[in-house]
Amino acid sequence: AEYELGEHPDFMYKEMLDQRDAVDRCLRGRLDRRFMSARLDGIGLSPREYQQIRRVKLLGCGSAYYAAQVGAGMIEELARIPADAEPASEFRYRNPVVDPDTLYVAISQSGETLDTLGAVHELKRKGGRVIGLVNVVSSSIARECGSGIFLHAGSEVSVAATKSFTNMGVTLALLALELGRVRDLSITQGRRLVEGLDALPALVGEILGAEQRIAAVAARYANVANMFFIGRVRGWPVAREGAQKLKEISYVHAEAYQASELKHGPLALINPQMPTVAIVPDDELLAKNISTIEEIKARGGPVIAVTDADLPAGLATDVIQVPRAHPDLAPITLSLPLQLFAYHLAKSLGRDIDRPRNLAKSVTVE
Ligand code: G6P
Repeated sequence: AEYELGEHPDFMYKEMLDQRDAVDRCLRGRLDRRFMSARLDGIGLSPREYQQIRRVKLLGCGSAYYAAQVGAGMIEELARIPADAEPASEFRYRNPVVDPDTLYVAISQSGETLDTLGAVHELKRKGGRVIGLVNVVSSSIARECGSGIFLHAGSEVSVAATKSFTNMGVTLALLALELGRVRDLSITQGRRLVEGLDALPALVGEILGAEQRIAAVAARYANVANMFFIGRVRGWPVAREGAQKLKEISYVHAEAYQASELKHGPLALINPQMPTVAIVPDDELLAKNISTIEEIKARGGPVIAVTDADLPAGLATDVIQVPRAHPDLAPITLSLPLQLFAYHLAKSLGRDIDRPRNLAKSVTVE
């Protein structure tokens, strides 16, 4: 059947609301409840080959790059393999050193982004081992990589990535689980993550159900000219993706910053006209994030906290509360309210959500 808008106001809205089902599709058949691992046959690596991986390098552009950063964090945390993300657009032109013990991961919704395809070509020319995390099955990047994990997000038409970003997070969690389980991740830790992934579709549904509350918060900030998005470690790529989403569809200037670096410069810009969206996962860095919010408040800056923790009452100006996920899956759940926030803020400004100015769904030219 052709992909149609139906009764939805725009494709971004339709695609955001499809995320519970999209995550469900992505997980189907991929959780190994016997060994508390992932079943990723499309990668085609034996346990011994998994063992030989010494580094992971994740490449993508735009939202796929921020998803790559989420994945690098998951892989380091769960598998204890050094991992990092880089924009494919930079990688392909800087004459990268390609190492045979590194697993390269090319991430793309469309599978046609020229910079990402260029990075794959450069890798293959130098004998690198590259797998694809791609949504469109028949795409160039999927074909060139020859192995990998399909996102199963379904069609995505809106320029702003939503369900593809979420499913990039899910497939990266599966990859981190598999890499972890051939190394030091215990069966107990594996079980916790499998259970966390199992619970994810319902959590996603619950978060999307809080849309009206998020819309009300977004409407209150529709007149601002600039915003900060801050986060630490797990929250940092979430902040970057949230700021990107806001810029793309509302044209409000947003800058993402590591919460830890705020006091080394940008704190000078905080005032009542400069709101900050603070991503606050319920993890070891909670106390640090709370004190950063206090510093912002002390300088008169409004704070919108997006959190799955129990924050002290009155700490933030506005709180967008999200149900608690497995800590390593929080980058996925905490990103969802930021999509709704950007969407509703852009709506209150009357923007053309599916066709933002100057942007294309996939950039297939130089
Ligand atoms: C374009 C889009 C972005 C997208 C990026 C990567 O710039 O505007 O929303 O994240 O391409 O697209 P891909 O299809 O490779 O994920």
